[in-house]
Amino acid sequence: MTTTGIWQAVVIVPPPLAPAFEEALEAASEAGALACSRFETTPGGPWSIQVLLQGPVDKKALETRLALAAAALDVPAPILSLSPVPEQDWVTASYRAQPPVQAGRFFVHGAHDRGTAPGGAITLEVDAGRAFGNGRHETTYGCLLALDHLAKTRRYRQPLDLGCGAGVLALAMARLWRVPVVATDIDPWAVAVARDNARRNHLHPWVRPLLSDGFAHPNLAAGAPYDLIMANILARPLQRLAPAIAQHLAPGGRVVLSGLLAKQDAQVRAAYMAQGLYLRRRRLLGEWLTLELTR
Ligand SMILES: C[S@@+](CC[C@H](N)C(=O)[O-])C[C@H]1O[C@@H](n2cnc3c(N)ncnc32)[C@H](O)[C@@H]1O
Repeated sequence: MTTTGIWQAVVIVPPPLAPAFEEALEAASEAGALACSRFETTPGGPWSIQVLLQGPVDKKALETRLALAAAALDVPAPILSLSPVPEQDWVTASYRAQPPVQAGRFFVHGAHDRGTAPGGAITLEVDAGRAFGNGRHETTYGCLLALDHLAKTRRYRQPLDLGCGAGVLALAMARLWRVPVVATDIDPWAVAVARDNARRNHLHPWVRPLLSDGFAHPNLAAGAPYDLIMANILARPLQRLAPAIAQHLAPGGRVVLSGLLAKQDAQVRAAYMAQGLYLRRRRLLGEWLTLELTR
C-alpha cells in the first residue's frame, strides 16, 4: 500500500485494449481518478495510459485489476509503473496546462474557462482527457480552420465526422449549421465521450454518435450522400477509406482530411485522385497536413 498524496499509474498497451485498461486503472482508487490521459506513443503504435490517483493506492490490488482485465481480454497483463507525483495544486495545474484554443472563429475550452470566450466566437466546451480531440493537436486545429473557411461560403446540410474522437468537429458543424451531424468512431470510448460532449454543449439533438469502423454501420449508408466529410484519422486508414468516402460524397461535396504527415501527402492524395477527387486547399501545421478536396 502506498502513502497518501497523488500517484501516477502508467501502462503501455495496444490501441484496441486502451479503453479496458484505462477503466481498470480508474477504478483502482476509492477516491476515483483525478485525471486520465492516453496518447499514441508512435503513430499507429501502442498507447500510453496515464492515470492520476489519490493515495493511498494499493499496488497489488491495482495489478490484480489489470490482470483481471487482461484475462477477460485473453491478453497478457501490461506492466504497471506507479510513481509518486510531487505535491501541487493538480486541478489548477492541469487546467493551466490546457488553455483554450482559438481556431478561426472557434473557441474550444474546458469547463474551467467557461465564459472567457471573446465576443463573436463560436464556443465549444471540451475537456482534455478521455478521447482524442480538444482542438490542441495540429490535426484538429487544421480541421477547425478548414471548417471555418468552408463555412464562410456555404452552408452544409449533411455533414459527417468520420473518426470523431471527443466529437469536437461534429460539435463545431452542429453549432454552425444546426443540422444533424453523424459522428462515428471505431472506439466505443470515443463514441461515449462524443455523446457526453454533445449533451454538455446542448448539441445532442443534432450530433449522432455511432460506433463504426469506416462506413461499416448501416446508418452511415442511410445518411448518405454527405455534402461534407471530415476525417481526421491517419494516413493509412485515410488511403484505405478513399473509395468509401468518395462513394458516400454528394456531387460537389467537400472532403477534409487530416492526420497525415507532410511526407505522406502524395500517397494520400493519389488515393483520392484515383476516386475522381482533386485538391482545393492544403494547410501545413508543424509536420501535419490538412487537405481539402472536392469532386
Ligand atoms: C486523430 S483522432 C481525431 C479525433 C477528432 N476527429 C479530432 O479531429 O480531434 C482519430 C480518431 O479516429 C478514430 N478511428 C481510427 N480509425 C477509424 C476507422 N476505421 N473508423 C472510424 N474511426 C476511426 C480513432 O479511434 C480516433 O478517435
